Formats: sequence, structure tokens, C-alpha cells
Amino acid sequence: MLSLSKVRFKHRSTLSRRSFLSTLIMIVGVGASYGLGGAYAVRFLFPRKREKRTVDLFVTMKSELIEGKSLQYALPSGKQILIQKLADQFLALSNICPHLGCKVRFERFENGDFGFLCPCHFGKFDLKGKAFAGPPAQAGQSLEKFEVVVKGEAVFVRVAVS
Ligand code: FES
Repeated sequence: MLSLSKVRFKHRSTLSRRSFLSTLIMIVGVGASYGLGGAYAVRFLFPRKREKRTVDLFVTMKSELIEGKSLQYALPSGKQILIQKLADQFLALSNICPHLGCKVRFERFENGDFGFLCPCHFGKFDLKGKAFAGPPAQAGQSLEKFEVVVKGEAVFVRVAVS
């Protein structure tokens, strides 16, 4: 038979264990909550830099690009780009004039050089897209450039995707 003192002792011991466990669980829970909140706060204050994602779009074969000619290519966004061969390099430029947005065209100028002419205000650009006459030259503007990637015999344009 159990004596009264043993029952009390057993009861007290059970209660203190329960109390200890519930306190421990509460401390762990509160700690985890603060830790998670702190991690989100750090992430909010110091956001990770997003990597720029790009995709290479096939344009043509190297043999199709001839020096002194320009190939027009439409990007999925609707932008038109002009691709030309210059010595061993390939250059891809926007056909939109940076002055007021008219379309430039590939042209042979009076001096025999090739480049791009904007018919709206007679802005002229060299084959690298740098303006040398008209309002775009006065403003120091250039045609937007796109990165060209050559893989074997194939020519691609690298464009950013969101
Ligand atoms: S829009 Fe091209 S020169 Fe003005």
C-alpha cells in the first residue's frame, strides 16, 4: 500500500516534469519564431542580387553574314535588330534611333563607308552604332547593342529574359 507522502512526491515530480517540458517547448518555439523572423528581416534588408537570366536566340549561319550587308532580325519582344559582319566580328544593334525612336536603315554613305542612317533628322551611325552626325551625335548617343555569340558556324543573339 502507498503512503500519503509517496503519493505527494510522485504527484509533485510529474507536475515539475510537465512544467519543465512545456517551458522547454515554449522556449524552443519562441526561439524558432524569432530566428525565422530575424532571417526574413535580414533577407528583406539585404536582398539577394538576382542573376540576370539570358537566352541565346539563333539568328543565322556565319556564312550568311556578308561584310557590307546587314541582316534584320526580329526578337520575340518585337524589337528589330540589325546584324552585320565587321572584319571577324559580328555586331547586333537595335534599329531604333536613340534620338526620337525612328527606324534606322543600313546605308552606304557618300564617302563609301557603310553605316546606319536615321531618315527622320539625318542622324548617322557608324557600323558599331556610334552616332557621328545629326542630333544623336550632338547628344553623344549610340544604337543599343546586343551581345552576339558564335557557336561553331551558328550565330546567336543573347537577350535578357525576366
Ligand atoms: S529620330 Fe533619329 S535622328 Fe531624330
